Amino acid sequence: MGKNKLAKFAYMEEYPHVFQYPYAVLQDKGFDMKGKWNELFFGNNNPIVLELGCGKGEYTVGLAKLFPEKNFIGLDIKGARMWTGARQSLDEGLSNVAFLRTHIELLTYFFRQGEVSEIWITFPDPQMNKVNKRMTSTRFMKLYCQILSDDGIIHLKTDSNFMFTYTCAMVKENDLPVLFETDDLYHSEPADDILGIQTFYEQQWLARGLNIKYIKFECPDKDNWTEPEIEIEKDDYRSFGRSNSLNQSGK
Ligand SMILES: C[S@@+](CC[C@H](N)C(=O)[O-])C[C@H]1O[C@@H](n2cnc3c(N)ncnc32)[C@H](O)[C@@H]1O
Repeated sequence: MGKNKLAKFAYMEEYPHVFQYPYAVLQDKGFDMKGKWNELFFGNNNPIVLELGCGKGEYTVGLAKLFPEKNFIGLDIKGARMWTGARQSLDEGLSNVAFLRTHIELLTYFFRQGEVSEIWITFPDPQMNKVNKRMTSTRFMKLYCQILSDDGIIHLKTDSNFMFTYTCAMVKENDLPVLFETDDLYHSEPADDILGIQTFYEQQWLARGLNIKYIKFECPDKDNWTEPEIEIEKDDYRSFGRSNSLNQSGK
């Protein structure tokens, strides 16, 4: 492991707004802030917004600056990436930001029902061959429902036509109310302050000339979820793109 990465891990251990809970730690110690993020950490009653797979945390930090009246938590399993956002939010004195290093699959260990009002999913791997790993699959939707408030909202921003088409189909199949949707964010209408925030991965895909897609939908608590039965053409650039050029520089 590089020296730089080790230094970042060491800093992360010290940061007061970073919580690191891999499964082993969770099993051992549990998480005593579940249901009490606002009471014990943020010290207010503001809505909590989660960014899942936040990478360097551009949305977590960017939204926190735009909306001081909300609380933001960036979640990812990769600590060295997350360090960038953790450092920036500390340097900028943002008191409405936290980072949680863990697996998305463990969300219900950290948040009680209704504790989260919005979820952002930014440029996830579309997992074209594994529906259960796809972050907008019904498997994950069931999980999100367990922590979202009744009027909870999910935002997906993606370069992937496959991911976007799949998510729109999942939303339709399950009658989820769509609040906004575009398959070409930057060429349809000017992106606003929120949608104009660009993540590390987004910048890479934009540089390749790909269109960015976005959908915002409600996620009410439901008993029954149905996977859409739909054939979707796979993104042709993934096989040579994501794993090589992005991962080398993305760390
Ligand atoms: C393609 S990157 C996108 C990062 C960032 N959102 C961006 O747009 O630059 C996907 C991120 O999701 C994280 N991730 C993927 N699956 C995860 C999981 N099951 N639990 C936690 N993080 C996960 C990865 O570590 C990675 O940082």
